[in-house]
Amino acid sequence: MRRRVHHRGVILILLSNGRIIDYVTASGALAFDGSGWPHTRYLLGPLKFHDSSLFTVTLKTLTREPRRGNGYTKVLPLNQHGAVLSFWDFLFSPNKIAGFVNSVGLKNPGIDRATGKYPRMIKKSGLKVIGSLYADDLNDLVYMANKFNDWPLVALELNASCPNIPQRSREENSAFIIESARILAESSNHPLILKLSFDDDYLFIAKTLAKDNFIEAISMNSIKYSTVFPGLDSPFSHIGGGGVSGKLSRDYYYIMAKNIMNETDISLILPVWSEECIENWLLLSTINDHDISLSFGSVFIRWPWWPTAFIKRNGKDL
Ligand SMILES: Cc1cc2nc3c(=O)[nH]c(=O)nc-3n(C[C@H](O)[C@H](O)[C@H](O)COP(=O)(O)O)c2cc1C
Repeated sequence: MRRRVHHRGVILILLSNGRIIDYVTASGALAFDGSGWPHTRYLLGPLKFHDSSLFTVTLKTLTREPRRGNGYTKVLPLNQHGAVLSFWDFLFSPNKIAGFVNSVGLKNPGIDRATGKYPRMIKKSGLKVIGSLYADDLNDLVYMANKFNDWPLVALELNASCPNIPQRSREENSAFIIESARILAESSNHPLILKLSFDDDYLFIAKTLAKDNFIEAISMNSIKYSTVFPGLDSPFSHIGGGGVSGKLSRDYYYIMAKNIMNETDISLILPVWSEECIENWLLLSTINDHDISLSFGSVFIRWPWWPTAFIKRNGKDL
């Protein structure tokens, strides 16, 4: 049984294996091995504008079989009204960017190929890494959990709510997520993080799983375009509508965090867009005496250097 120590007003989650996560990069932000996409790896990294070692890196989600996803350029910048910004505005008017819609569709090489390649690279890099998996079949889930048992991970994240994957009914989906989390906890030797979206019945799922005490943290996924902009046509309506992230999703993340903090003591990994966000999260965690860490996701697309600059400027609590 885990011993829970609350770290009031401090960005820190202590996992059952003794590892600490404070600043996390969200799945998808730094590719499959944590070194980042080409612009981070070959430009910002060497120029010291990005340093993956300051973070606990959540790898991009893997599935059992390889997936082609929905093709290239399935991420678009949005303004505050949900309209797509031009490439010109993206480059030269970053203040107009209020978030992103993505419909990447879990493009990935599959767990077998990934296991042949990435664990070695992760060991060599010495990075603190969280693995991420998605499975819509329980046998696949167990298969992947066993594969991940040989990876040098700090924790394993179950991406239970990818908004780009066709979903079951809300009730069926909740039952499936709860069952998946339980089975994963039995099969995995890593601490377990559950990634949920506002679109899930997240509070019911969190309250149910809190009783068993084997979910060590909950992280937050992007939110369906149709939830954030009801009545508007998503630029990705032909491929499921996509998930909205960034500032546009802040209010939903806040409601989620507040409700989960009120009803459970599961630690939360909270998405960050700006310094103001961080202040709000610290205040909320202090008021509720709740353990949190921070997650940098699509802010990496807007200002890829900012998360590193923030940590260098402010230091770490430990
Ligand atoms: C381009 C892109 C790719 C993503 N890929 C994944 C993924 O593979 N697995 C996953 O769990 N989440 C993925 N996400 C969701 C992020 O990890 C994060 O949960 C989401 O963007 C919300 O956080 P944010 O508002 O801070 O960006 C992706 C997001 C974006 C924008």
